Amino acid sequence: MKILVTGGTGYIGSHTAVELQEKGYEVIIVDNLSNSSIEVLDNIEKITGVKPLFEQFDLTDPKRTAAFFKQNNDIRAIIHFAAFKAVGESVEKPLMYYRNNLISLVNILQGMIDNGIENIVFSSSCTVYGQPDKLPVSENSPIKKAWSPYGNTKQMSEEIITFTSDVNDIQAILLRYFNPIGAHESALIGELPIGVPNCLMPYITQTAIGIREYLRVWGDDYPTPDGTAIRDYIHVVDLAKAHVIAIERMIGQKGKQKVEVFNLGTGNGFSVMEVINSFERSTGVKLNYEIMGRRPGDVVEVWSDTEYANKELGWTAEKSLDEMTKSAWNWEKELEIKRKANNE
Ligand code: UD1
Repeated sequence: MKILVTGGTGYIGSHTAVELQEKGYEVIIVDNLSNSSIEVLDNIEKITGVKPLFEQFDLTDPKRTAAFFKQNNDIRAIIHFAAFKAVGESVEKPLMYYRNNLISLVNILQGMIDNGIENIVFSSSCTVYGQPDKLPVSENSPIKKAWSPYGNTKQMSEEIITFTSDVNDIQAILLRYFNPIGAHESALIGELPIGVPNCLMPYITQTAIGIREYLRVWGDDYPTPDGTAIRDYIHVVDLAKAHVIAIERMIGQKGKQKVEVFNLGTGNGFSVMEVINSFERSTGVKLNYEIMGRRPGDVVEVWSDTEYANKELGWTAEKSLDEMTKSAWNWEKELEIKRKANNE
């Protein structure tokens, strides 16, 4: 059974391609490689024994995308990851985000309608909830005004899918991720930040390996037990597995509605300091860090209510925070070997 994974050479996409192939699905990846590397395909093959099918093009190109779907009308389901995701950059360049993230989605939905492809899983984010009034945050929590164009594209994409599904034979599962971190246990695939990372985990591992001087902890005066902000970190492999279950649910027609929404988190909130402590504990490496002021736009605390996903999907995130931080470190060490080999 053929599954299209857009953005399949990226961080979450590559882990999902692995999980799909391990379950016997045929994976076809479309990626423009704007934020990922072609070598990921070889590494997926090293893990699973199978190299996914691959086409490099930009899904914002309507003609190219239409031609692709015509040639591949045997696709049973799509997992759509391909999107820009840097919050700060989206504030600087809003139109780049709206153009890329929304037009690609419109082209994909058109391809689905024109070729009778009925199932799509969409990569959304807990950012749609903003700072929720009540914790843990369930799927019924209100959607708040977006804090960035990036977050706004996630909200708008969910709406575009829902309205399109209303009047077409399209089922969708919208997966709202909390904070994915960590890497595959083989250390063959992981997060590949280009330039200076914004996210916490790659910044920690790059500091520990010596690329960055010290981690800046953005704020220790939040109303939380240790004063640093709290997030629900989830291992990327746990997250990837939920996508396979979502695909199986749609293909098996087990959905309760045409469009379903699930939060994907662990249900545990950890502070920035707790992540640092976990990293030091799981790796034995000391981390340089300094406390700074708050980062504009950051919410204080957010973690997921996992009950609905646990019950309906029969899925639970299994990996501990220490497993997440340790696997992220193993991946950084692999990257360092490659950097040294390339004399970077
Ligand atoms: C943000 C977005 C989220 C998006 C994700 C991926 C918001 C509210 N959330 O998550 O939608 O999907 O990025 O790009 O915009 N931290 C430090 N020092 C650092 C980096 C981070 O202290 O160098 C802290 C942050 O202040 C935050 C926590 O670590 O408290 C996690 O930050 P980060 O990894 O950037 O993720 P979010 O901001 O939660």
